[in-house]
Amino acid sequence: MSEERPAAEEAGWVALGVALPAPGEWVAARPAGHAVVLCNVAGTFHAIEDVCPHLQVALSGGRLEGALLECPLHGGKVDVRSGAAAAPPIRRPARVYALRQGAAGLEIDLAGDDTGESDDDLRKRLR
Ligand code: FES
Repeated sequence: MSEERPAAEEAGWVALGVALPAPGEWVAARPAGHAVVLCNVAGTFHAIEDVCPHLQVALSGGRLEGALLECPLHGGKVDVRSGAAAAPPIRRPARVYALRQGAAGLEIDLAGDDTGESDDDLRKRLR
């Protein structure tokens, strides 16, 4: 007999716990203390770490134009779908997270990176 755990108790997956943004908007979230920006790109949600790859300031506060989130400090842009750098001075990718619909709402996988990188590779890349 197998025991099923509620989705939110699976390793890495936690509820975002925020009201979902409207299309073209974003909201800052802090699931389990992680700084995340939840973006709504044409009705599809994407989660990106709330840290600019340029100088490590918060990305929240910037404008979302399509799938590109603009850093409020220097105007660099990242693609929230992949984390890819999209405009200088940002040259390195940002961390993105997988999302899924859980019983209690949208959930985020804090243990993984949506790029499929291991945590070790991710730490090296973000240094
Ligand atoms: S700190 Fe974000 S673009 Fe410079």
